[in-house]
Amino acid sequence: MSRTDKASVAILLSGGGSNMVALADSMLRDEIHPGRPCLVVSNTPDAGGLAKAAERGIATAVVDHRPFGKDREAFEAELVKPILEAGADVVCLAGFMRVLTAGFVSQFEGRMLNIHPSLLPKYKGLHTHARALAAGDRRHGCSVHQVTPRLDDGPILGQAEVPILPGDTPEDLALRVLVQEHRLYPAVLSRFLRGETAPLYLS
Ligand code: GRF
Repeated sequence: MSRTDKASVAILLSGGGSNMVALADSMLRDEIHPGRPCLVVSNTPDAGGLAKAAERGIATAVVDHRPFGKDREAFEAELVKPILEAGADVVCLAGFMRVLTAGFVSQFEGRMLNIHPSLLPKYKGLHTHARALAAGDRRHGCSVHQVTPRLDDGPILGQAEVPILPGDTPEDLALRVLVQEHRLYPAVLSRFLRGETAPLYLS
């Protein structure tokens, strides 16, 4: 643990950061929450989540992946620096759109979480909402899981379901799932920091 008795949580994002906001606000609003946000890192300099973090008084860092081209290890060697400097106990991926190598993941084994917009193990990877619609599924949702070197794999810590309604577009479904992401991720993080790893199922 860090200098406070709360776990220091670093949040990694690439975009708008609505999941980061849900996580950060759940920690900042609750005095007895077991975690505190110590850092928000983006791999895209213009990510909207950076300003939202700064508004909340959370330290931010940008590690742009583009100068590194296909050299993931070199990118990650830079990415890890602010996380270590911030003394992060736990890392939450929240819309972080880079695939991480096994070497990076192993540095945070057992203390890195991800949220994915599908009911894993279904629909790992991208375009999850369109794929659920194309398959004719009647239910969809989101999952929070521990991060392992395999993409969108690792032990499930929680899932939330939504119905798929007649006429839904991928965008309709994405919005319905996102509402549940914002409920699920803070609930799972709080439990995780308290040592509870039994999956939480929300409906
Ligand atoms: C979320 O749907 C997340 O599950 C996915 O990307 C989206 C990020 O949204 N991987 P935000 O940046 O948290 O608003």
